[in-house]
Amino acid sequence: MTVDSGVYGPWAVIAGGSEGVGASFATQLAAAGINLVLIARKPGPLEETADKARAHGVQVRTVAADLLEAGTFDAIRAASDDVEVGLFVFNAGANTYGAEIVDGELAGFQRVIDLNIGAQLQLAQHFGSRLKARGRGGIILLGSLAGYLGQPQIGVYSAVKAFDRIFAESLWIELEPHGVHVLELVLGVTRTPAMERAGLRLDIPGLNVAEPDDVAREGLEHLADGPVWIAGGNFETARKRNGFDRAQIVRRAAEATRRLVPQD
Ligand SMILES: NC(=O)c1ccc[n+]([C@@H]2O[C@H](COP(=O)([O-])OP(=O)(O)OC[C@H]3O[C@@H](n4cnc5c(N)ncnc54)[C@H](OP(=O)(O)O)[C@@H]3O)[C@@H](O)[C@H]2O)c1
Repeated sequence: MTVDSGVYGPWAVIAGGSEGVGASFATQLAAAGINLVLIARKPGPLEETADKARAHGVQVRTVAADLLEAGTFDAIRAASDDVEVGLFVFNAGANTYGAEIVDGELAGFQRVIDLNIGAQLQLAQHFGSRLKARGRGGIILLGSLAGYLGQPQIGVYSAVKAFDRIFAESLWIELEPHGVHVLELVLGVTRTPAMERAGLRLDIPGLNVAEPDDVAREGLEHLADGPVWIAGGNFETARKRNGFDRAQIVRRAAEATRRLVPQD
């Protein structure tokens, strides 16, 4: 795989760049000679990923901070204002709170919204405007097959991922004339530490489980093929989820999700 460092370098910023797909992006971009600013909360995995990337001879800066905290935007700016950024990746965003909509805590739902909508909007606007002025570069936002339909227990997550896709399409059409490639990289079930911690049953026979390195590679290979790229061989699933009749599609997917997610 070749990533054009003249377009997407010399620096990339990855929000959620320590584990899973974010770590895979970091390693693959470092191998292409692109310097990195990596953001994540847990310092341990963040420094581990940074060291792996440095082994490729690139510079890596880390910001150990929560994207939901007020000061984090300024910390990201402090780590990136003085370098030329060619690529921005917003990877953080797996579901952090699952509950039925009428039973759940509003604060839990709000955190899912603030991360996937608020923080992403702020950072996409910031780096998008820099890339537009520069006249070349890329933005990758991480979408989900969950964003193609409503689902029980993860209804707010599904809704923010639907927002994400429409948002990415808008950004794509706005930035295309300025030489900036925007890609919504849609993932199906992917074997990340977050999914393992959530106890997802990834060994269900016939379940299509993708590996982080593979989906990150697909995203980088198809950065210029926006606005949406469905990774991991899930195109047909996305097409069906996007169709009609909605009642039948939503009911069937709910059954499949119940098998995947541990029930209390
Ligand atoms: N894995 C799947 O099956 C799957 C399926 C469809 C879509 N996706 C999408 O793919 C993306 C990556 O998912 P993932 O499973 O790797 O899990 P994730 O929990 O989103 O973690 C990805 C990275 O983001 C960081 N992160 C998470 N929340 C953060 C916060 N509030 N502030 C700063 N950093 C934060 C994590 O490190 P820290 O925890 O140390 O902060 C990690 O480096 C997400 O957008 C998700 O919605 C995943």
